[in-house]
Amino acid sequence: MRGNPADFTATAIVAAAGSGRRLGYNKPKAFVELDGRMLLERCLDGLADSGVINRAIVLVSAEMRHLAESIARSEDNKRRWSGMHIIIGLGGTDRAESVRAGLDIEYGQPNTSLVAVHDAARCLTPPELIRRLVHDAGEAVASKNAAGTIPVLPVADTVKVVMADGRVKSTPTRTSLRAAQTPQVFSFAQLYSANTKAIRAEEAADAVAGELPVVTDDSSLMEYYGFDVRTMTGDERALKITTHSDFVLAQALLAEAASADSANEQSKQPGTGQDNE
Ligand code: CTP
Ligand code: MG
Repeated sequence: MRGNPADFTATAIVAAAGSGRRLGYNKPKAFVELDGRMLLERCLDGLADSGVINRAIVLVSAEMRHLAESIARSEDNKRRWSGMHIIIGLGGTDRAESVRAGLDIEYGQPNTSLVAVHDAARCLTPPELIRRLVHDAGEAVASKNAAGTIPVLPVADTVKVVMADGRVKSTPTRTSLRAAQTPQVFSFAQLYSANTKAIRAEEAADAVAGELPVVTDDSSLMEYYGFDVRTMTGDERALKITTHSDFVLAQALLAEAASADSANEQSKQPGTGQDNE
C-alpha cells in the first residue's frame, strides 16, 4: 500500500500542550474526541500511516501527561502505531517553548536528520501529504538547496494590514500570500541551530522588546535566521481545529471520507467492480 520503502524518514515533534481555550471544551484540545477518537490520536494515526515517521515526540502539559502516556500504551494504539516509537514530553508555556522541549529530547537520540514539527490540532492531515513533505525536505536538505519544506495554501480572503487605531495601513497583494500549515519539515541540525540562536537572543540583556520575531510557526524562525524554506501545496484537511466551526468542518470532512471509503468498499465486492491491488 505504501509503495517503495521511504527514502527519507523523520522524527515528528507533536505540539499538544495547549489549553484549547478558543475551542471551548473544559479540557485541552488534543484530548477532545472528534467522532470517538481524540485529536491527538488522530494526529498520530496520520503520522504513523505516512510510513515515514519513525519516532514521535509528543509535548503535553503536566496535568495531561498521565493520560497521554496511557494513550500511547493502549494495545489498540500500539498496534496502529507500530513502527513509530512514541515519547511523551513536557511542553512549555507557549507553542515555541513546547517545540523547543521536543527538540531537546530529540537532541539525545541517535540518527536524527529531519524533524517534522506538527500541531495535534491539525489532526486530519493526510498521510500522503506528510510523505511528500518529508520527501521534499529530505531532497532539499541533502542537496543543500533549502533547510526544509512547509505546506501552504492560497489565501481566499483579501488580507489587510491594520494600524493600532484600527485604520487600514495597506493591502498586500493576495497572489503572493499563502497560509502556512503543518507538518513543517526541516533539517534537525538547522532548526536546532535557529532555536539556539533565538534562545541566546532572548536571554541577551540587550534584547529589545519587539526586535525578535513572534514565532507562530517554525518556518518564521528559520526565515528570521536566514535559512531558505521551500513550500509545497498543502491540503484543506490539514486545517487547524481552533474554534467550534473548525470542529464542525472536521466532522464533515470525516463523514465525507467515510462515505468515500464505503463506496470504495462496495465497488470491491465480488462481481461489482475491479480491484487490482
Ligand atoms: N501548543 C503547545 N504548547 C503550548 C501552546 C500550544 O504545544 N503552550 C500546541 C497546541 O496544543 C496545538 C498547537 O500548538 O496543537 C497550535 O496551537 P493552538 O491552535 O493555539 O492551540 P491551543 O493553544 O491549545 O488553543 P488556544 O490558543 O485556543 O488556547
Ligand atoms: Mg494557542
